[in-house]
Amino acid sequence: MSMQASVLDRYTEGAESRQEDLCCPVNYNPELLKLLPEEIIEKDYGCGDPSAYVRQGDTVLDLGSGGGKICYMAAQLVGDEGHVIGVDMNDDMLALARKHQAGMAKKIGGDRVSFHKGYIQDLALDLGATEKWLAGHTVKNSGDLTALKQFQHEQRHEHPLIADNSVDLVVSNCVLNLVDAVEKDQLIHEIFRVLKPGGRVAISDIVSDEEVPEHLQRDPELWSGCISGAFQEHAFIKVFLDAGFMGTAIDKWDEKPWQVVKGIEFRSVTLTATKPEDTECLDYGHAVIYKGPFSEVHDDDGHVYYRGERMAVCQHTYRFLTEGPFSEYFIGIEPANTSKPSKFCAPAGTRRPASMTKGGTHSGSSGEACCC
Ligand SMILES: C[S@@+](CC[C@H](N)C(=O)[O-])C[C@H]1O[C@@H](n2cnc3c(N)ncnc32)[C@H](O)[C@@H]1O
Repeated sequence: MSMQASVLDRYTEGAESRQEDLCCPVNYNPELLKLLPEEIIEKDYGCGDPSAYVRQGDTVLDLGSGGGKICYMAAQLVGDEGHVIGVDMNDDMLALARKHQAGMAKKIGGDRVSFHKGYIQDLALDLGATEKWLAGHTVKNSGDLTALKQFQHEQRHEHPLIADNSVDLVVSNCVLNLVDAVEKDQLIHEIFRVLKPGGRVAISDIVSDEEVPEHLQRDPELWSGCISGAFQEHAFIKVFLDAGFMGTAIDKWDEKPWQVVKGIEFRSVTLTATKPEDTECLDYGHAVIYKGPFSEVHDDDGHVYYRGERMAVCQHTYRFLTEGPFSEYFIGIEPANTSKPSKFCAPAGTRRPASMTKGGTHSGSSGEACCC
């Protein structure tokens, strides 16, 4: 049996009745659970809470949405302008999620959620559309197969399930580990493709502390149980870095492993990352001061920040460091005079003389005037 077939069977059972061995304890925001039907809360197979990263107005994509719990939690946070899209490959899970769609729209005050059938490693392919095509065509020989492939090719390009650069936040709760090892790189590239420049990722998943040996990876029970398909914890970060994400961080790391198999610890973590802005590197003379407590830090773009020193950064790095999740570590100093920008970024480690920033606006300092 292929791993994908074992995953399909396991979550069909999971949609029918609660599967205790797939449940990992999670402290969700109780306020957001209040509106959710008991049946959805009961069939929770998540391992973290990526809904905590949703902002008002976001278009959110939930990979492997299962019974729809994270989608319905996110829908309460995105507001009237936002939208939440759930993608899952399992008909029974989709049916469970869709069953409550109208009721939840009434409770939330708007129909902000949609559920679609698709593989999360191939987000352009609308499996619902493929199934409609198959209902009207027979695939019996290689010629028929070519016609199917042609239909899917056109569909991916002309009517992608999830378009390029269309999503503000990709979330997922305990699903990436279920994707076949050979398709995991493609999965991360798909996440990158669908995100808008500057878009964010918040993924809760199970990771292992050591590499999982091949024979455990071949065990369909361990794989479909969210165990042996887990990324090794450092490989989880690396695959996002390799795909081009920046600011990749482990935001949550469960001290207690969820399972220990043959001495390997499997625990829940939540990873956050950002797709870089698609803007030109323009150096207007901005500076940032890294507050510490370490003597220096390096970012994923190759910059280095020495504690307490005014470091030269271009405008988009300035925004990333002073407006994003890392703003608590940096003081931002606007250029004193806005002159024509240079298109060349200062090499890593370049200090910005105080004379260039003196009198500029500050962000991230205590903000209080000195009165001695
Ligand atoms: C462990 S459950 C998590 C469900 C949900 N995120 C939650 O928090 O309860 C995994 C879900 O991912 C779906 N899934 C697994 N692999 C998938 C794939 N390659 N493409 C789409 N859905 C997938 C399964 O059908 C199942 O609904």
